[in-house]
Amino acid sequence: MSCCSAPGTKQTEPQKPCCPGGDSSQNVQDSVKQYYGKELNTKDDIKTGVNCQMDLQMPKHVRQALGEVHDDVTIKYYGCGLVIPEAVEGCSVLDLGSGSGRDCFALSKLVGASGKVVGVDMTEEQLAVARKHVDYHTEKFGYTEPNVEFVTGYIEKLGEAGLKDNTFDVIVSNCVVNLSPDKTAVLKEAHRVLKEGGELYFSDIYTNTHLSDSIRKHRVLWGECISGALQWEELYSTAKQVGFSQPRLVSGKMVDVSKFKDVLGDDAKFVSVTYRLFKLPSTLKSATKVTYKGGILGSCDELEFDHAVTFKKGEGKVVDAELATILSASRFQTFFAFENAGDATPVTSAPRIDPFKYVEDHGSSSIPCCCD
Ligand SMILES: C[S@@+](CC[C@H](N)C(=O)[O-])C[C@H]1O[C@@H](n2cnc3c(N)ncnc32)[C@H](O)[C@@H]1O
Repeated sequence: MSCCSAPGTKQTEPQKPCCPGGDSSQNVQDSVKQYYGKELNTKDDIKTGVNCQMDLQMPKHVRQALGEVHDDVTIKYYGCGLVIPEAVEGCSVLDLGSGSGRDCFALSKLVGASGKVVGVDMTEEQLAVARKHVDYHTEKFGYTEPNVEFVTGYIEKLGEAGLKDNTFDVIVSNCVVNLSPDKTAVLKEAHRVLKEGGELYFSDIYTNTHLSDSIRKHRVLWGECISGALQWEELYSTAKQVGFSQPRLVSGKMVDVSKFKDVLGDDAKFVSVTYRLFKLPSTLKSATKVTYKGGILGSCDELEFDHAVTFKKGEGKVVDAELATILSASRFQTFFAFENAGDATPVTSAPRIDPFKYVEDHGSSSIPCCCD
């Protein structure tokens, strides 16, 4: 899905000029670069409520890792959610649109010396802040050499940034995909560079409605992650088209856009959601009885996998083919026991849920902290 296409149109059809700066992807990217490189200095310059998500509850080890990130990095944090999934120790992690590097540095701590974190971003000013602080964090975390690096590049063209097929265990991204003029390309590239069983765990902004051209073309609202937001259902179709598992909603929060009511009107609503998607083998397992054995930092007694599925330690649960495949093909495999499900009916699936309804019903949510 390109920002410049009307919903439902194919990419091969002529594009409508409805992005900031006209109809070319380069113009959109230049406009966003200008916004993050020259116009915003700190998170206090953000005009919408998009980047005010730090009140999410989070596990203690994540809070501690984030707390160790240098203030000069954190002050330029423009994310909209928490993108630090469980069980990342030893993993290779890629951050799409890493900005000044806050999530990369926290992940650098959590993956440990044997892990690796790569941040990719197109804005040199953001990258300069991140690169300047690599040595600080290497020393702070007690590593003999850096396990984090920052690469200049476009998230739609990771190959040009030197990122090869089947490289990463986990990809994170925090409030970036909405800024891209071509979300399908971003998801395709993410799928390509993930290993089989790898996960895309990302937080982004979604809307409930078709946005008018005047909203799509609004330069500040595009820069603030609003005008480029996907309608939430489009994430499901794009994920399927690219070959990912069905998106699983982890947490969500409404975004306050009241200051822009004159442009946005009354109908358009925006929500920040963290989803997890997996790159699965082509053949799925069958429904399986799985038992969480424990051992994941921050998830001692239970693992909240998404908004609908929690695994209690030592308690068997029959899961459907997709979830059985996710657990057995991914880094979660060693934390589970797998048994034949026999005739038992799976009790879990990945329900496709309207995030607006979810947030309305549950309030803003996040994985609760546990096991400090
Ligand atoms: C809202 S900021 C988020 C930065 C970072 N994830 C954080 O949480 O602080 C968006 C970042 O994505 C980068 N970005 C946007 N579109 C991009 C693209 N197409 N390719 C690479 N980077 C992009 C911008 O340069 C900016 O640093």
